[in-house]
Amino acid sequence: MTNKSLKIIKKYFNVSVNEMRKLAGDFRSEMDKGLAGRKSSLKMIPTYTKRPSGTEIGKYIALDLGGTNFRVLEIELEGSGRMSRPRVMKFKLNKRHITGSGDLFFGFIAGCLKNFLVKNKEMNSVRKMGFTFSFPVKQTEIASGNLVCWTKGFKVSGVIGEDIVGLLEAALNKKGIRGVRVAALINDTVGTLAAKSYEDKNCNIGVIIGTGTNACYAEPELGGMIVNTEWGNFDKMRRTVFDILVDSQSDRPGQQVLEKMVSGMYLGEVALKVIRAHVLPGLKHFNTEQMSAIESDRSNGLTVTGKVLKMAGIKDTTPEERLACREISSIISLRAARLSAACLEAIVKKIDPSISNRHTIAIDGSVYEKHPSFANNISSALKDMLGTRAARIKVVLAKDGSGVGAAITAAAAG
Ligand code: BGC
Repeated sequence: MTNKSLKIIKKYFNVSVNEMRKLAGDFRSEMDKGLAGRKSSLKMIPTYTKRPSGTEIGKYIALDLGGTNFRVLEIELEGSGRMSRPRVMKFKLNKRHITGSGDLFFGFIAGCLKNFLVKNKEMNSVRKMGFTFSFPVKQTEIASGNLVCWTKGFKVSGVIGEDIVGLLEAALNKKGIRGVRVAALINDTVGTLAAKSYEDKNCNIGVIIGTGTNACYAEPELGGMIVNTEWGNFDKMRRTVFDILVDSQSDRPGQQVLEKMVSGMYLGEVALKVIRAHVLPGLKHFNTEQMSAIESDRSNGLTVTGKVLKMAGIKDTTPEERLACREISSIISLRAARLSAACLEAIVKKIDPSISNRHTIAIDGSVYEKHPSFANNISSALKDMLGTRAARIKVVLAKDGSGVGAAITAAAAG
């Protein structure tokens, strides 16, 4: 790849400050339309819950289903923003679970909960439970809601349009679990926001940048009710031919457009297309984890990158080719961070137009946590847009908040 091609790619994927401002404006008008119940790429789903007060107490169970990782937790809230270290059991859903029938899917989840209860001698305890279910769900109240569509490669049959809590409770019954009642059904962004705001009163935005991506926030116009934006479906960005290709080869073309430019499930795919076109035509597969590894490579001659590319199907690479792959990866991950920052700016300004107060944005997810420069790139982009006012916005990693947040929301729901 020549220097000239690199320059062209850089320009092609660049999101300038002006573009970020324009995007933030478009995001805002999509938010307004969604809130008004008009047609919008943002679903803006009311969640029927507010941020916790920090005084919630008691022992709760949480189920946390984000992607193929599934966790069961038990946690004791101690009030004044404190809690015990949660008891956790982790499980993995395989392809059969995420592409099979609803019975199999909810049966598996209920089976995991049963394992947890039996192991901890809690089969007979009476507990309220929070259920984090990280997909677009149209809620009708805090403890029920219907699945709008699957994302992130899930295709479980017979669930779209159904009440998730009803399906889960039927599965719990079948497994003989009688003491556990679902008190809250929440999105993972809502869990992340609840967990952080339990201890930090300035936290009013929760975000996931992992396999999928999304954000929620406390909406002043709805008395502080949390609104799930489902921002992964935002679609007002300028796309490249590579994005259009990734989209057209995906499960649901035209849907989750921002998610396909930002989240871990797709970033590596976009990079793969660019690397194939400009550097290594024979590259077979490439994922976001490998992108992170390459961008973290500080070795002489980029030997780590060489190893990653070998695993991805190219035996021998020159130092120039390895460098080109790293440049391409960072161009694509930088774009993802800047797109996210533009949307975040729009949300902060929706809450507080002149940004006169302090705001904490809680973010979780593998891309945000593990990518070497994603977090810094978001902060720099916010500074680019807001100048000194960016100092009032604190962006923090809220690790594993989604499960804990479900327990807190269950407590608050009563
Ligand atoms: C889902 C969201 C979820 C996000 C992060 C997206 O694919 O639509 O509901 O919050 O992934 O897990």
